[in-house]
Amino acid sequence: MIKAREEIKNIIPYVPGRPIADVQKEYGLENVIKLASNENPFGTSEVVKKALVDYINGGLNIYPDGNATDLKEKLSETLKLSPENLLITNGGDEALTLIAQTYINPTDEVILSEYTFTRYTDSSTIMGAKINFVPMKSYRYDLDGILNRINENTKLIWVCNPNNPTGTLLTEKEVLNFLNKVPKHILVVYDEAYVEFAESEDAIKDAYNLFKEYPNVITVKTFSKIYGLAGLRVGYLVGQPDIIANINKVRGPFNCNVLGQLAAINALDDKAFLKKVYENNLKGKKYLYEVLDKLSLPYCKSQTNHIFFETPMIDSKTLFEEMQKRGVIIRPMKGNYSRVSIGTMEENQEFAKTLVEVIQNFK
Ligand SMILES: Cc1ncc(COP(=O)(O)O)c(C=O)c1O
Repeated sequence: MIKAREEIKNIIPYVPGRPIADVQKEYGLENVIKLASNENPFGTSEVVKKALVDYINGGLNIYPDGNATDLKEKLSETLKLSPENLLITNGGDEALTLIAQTYINPTDEVILSEYTFTRYTDSSTIMGAKINFVPMKSYRYDLDGILNRINENTKLIWVCNPNNPTGTLLTEKEVLNFLNKVPKHILVVYDEAYVEFAESEDAIKDAYNLFKEYPNVITVKTFSKIYGLAGLRVGYLVGQPDIIANINKVRGPFNCNVLGQLAAINALDDKAFLKKVYENNLKGKKYLYEVLDKLSLPYCKSQTNHIFFETPMIDSKTLFEEMQKRGVIIRPMKGNYSRVSIGTMEENQEFAKTLVEVIQNFK
């Protein structure tokens, strides 16, 4: 047998939210809802859809612009940045992989929090890094704990804010205080995939500017969440030009497809769609808080489009299976913790009804 690299021996392939069609087939169900992958339940902007259909009618035979020039220009105008500060990626996920491939050596160490996005672990492990996990404090990143774990081998720190899966937020003050203490030779990857859903006044809304004050910070953004383009795979990185130029060397020549680039350009301007998604998400979140309160189930107040909750009477794998049998897909986490994405109000109600039904059997 041909031996693969040692570093990938213990990698468990990423387990995405279970697809609706799989669950329909397995349980013979017609109606299944998926609240497992923090997708946008309000679909995709009509403006974007029209632009895509018009483009497809002209054919898909031409390679994309590998540099994604038009999208970079649009982002430059929108964010008041230079195109040199931007790199377009195949979703935020590719951004994470490219950063790891560009910067992590096998002897390096990285620091990340317990209960954060699992792809930080995978992309670092694949590159041979040693991972230092820092326990959370009250389901929030322990930034002092992270600072205490810095040693001479530390190369990179992954920060997800607001965090997936807990939905908790680090305030602007906390982040700046932290960045002031991180030595400048350590790369800080600041992933704000969910920031557009944050309602707190204390959230940093323009973290893409952090690199100006902190040249060791690189910000990861995605069009998969509030923009509703998860299926097209578009994300981007914002950082200082030499970091962007290095990562660009590792990027594949046509990493972001034509439709993704076009959709992202159009999505940025559809403010009405973004407002609708934000407001509905907020309503859905409040409704689900009430449901969880009534059931006396502990949960974290969320600044994202998902809620991390605990079912003390039932472990998350069993809950997942029992919900799935009844046509509701959620995401099991460790132990008794689960994560549910905010859906449309009908989906939220269906989730609530099914949750009540399942946990009644486990009292
Ligand atoms: C924290 C975080 N970062 C990045 C991503 C990657 O998203 P995408 O690759 O769809 O842009 C996700 C996806 O769920 C996420 O939760």
